[in-house]
Amino acid sequence: MSRTDPAQHAAPATRTPITLRVNGTDHALRPDHRVSLLDVLREELDLTGAKKGCDHGQCGACTVLLDGRRAYSCLLLAVAQDGAEVTTVEGLAATVPGGGPHPLQRAFLERDAFQCGFCTPGQLCSAAGALAEAAAGHPSAATPAGALAAPGPVTLTAEEIRERLSGNLCRCGAYPAIVQAVTDAAGAADTAGGADAAGVVA
Ligand code: FES
Ligand code: FES
Repeated sequence: MSRTDPAQHAAPATRTPITLRVNGTDHALRPDHRVSLLDVLREELDLTGAKKGCDHGQCGACTVLLDGRRAYSCLLLAVAQDGAEVTTVEGLAATVPGGGPHPLQRAFLERDAFQCGFCTPGQLCSAAGALAEAAAGHPSAATPAGALAAPGPVTLTAEEIRERLSGNLCRCGAYPAIVQAVTDAAGAADTAGGADAAGVVA
């Protein structure tokens, strides 16, 4: 009787060790290959700031900063993020030199830019990413043609803010106050000498 090669029938690996740096702390994890970054943040690291709204990349409630760029964490497989640096809303204040709260958090409070608050963590992380992108000169669909030719930071008009945050839905319709709050924070960054001075992750 022929012997069966055990390797041929071994169950495929379903977990792989990775390291994630989340809000300044390194975590050694072994996520199931099918699990999203959002689920790892919420269920393994108890960071429940990023919300699960649609789980399909349509609402922005799960937005975090991944290596400084905003991303929908529900669309990312955790296992593919080995070595990445993640900032969630819980870590946003710590990005401010000298301590928080982050200028965006302060502005959201002052402008009363939320109602139920479910979308707010994603709005804050997305806005932080948008400020950094504009400061780095990245254009959006709302950037005037004339400004495209001029290198340097993009001025965040209300139209720019609406366009750049269009991936973050608010079921309460707090949009006018959100735009005002981001405008305030963008102005604070300018006054302080750039987005970095406002503690925005580049
Ligand atoms: S939960 Fe990720 S985009 Fe809606
Ligand atoms: S404040 Fe309720 S969904 Fe935006």
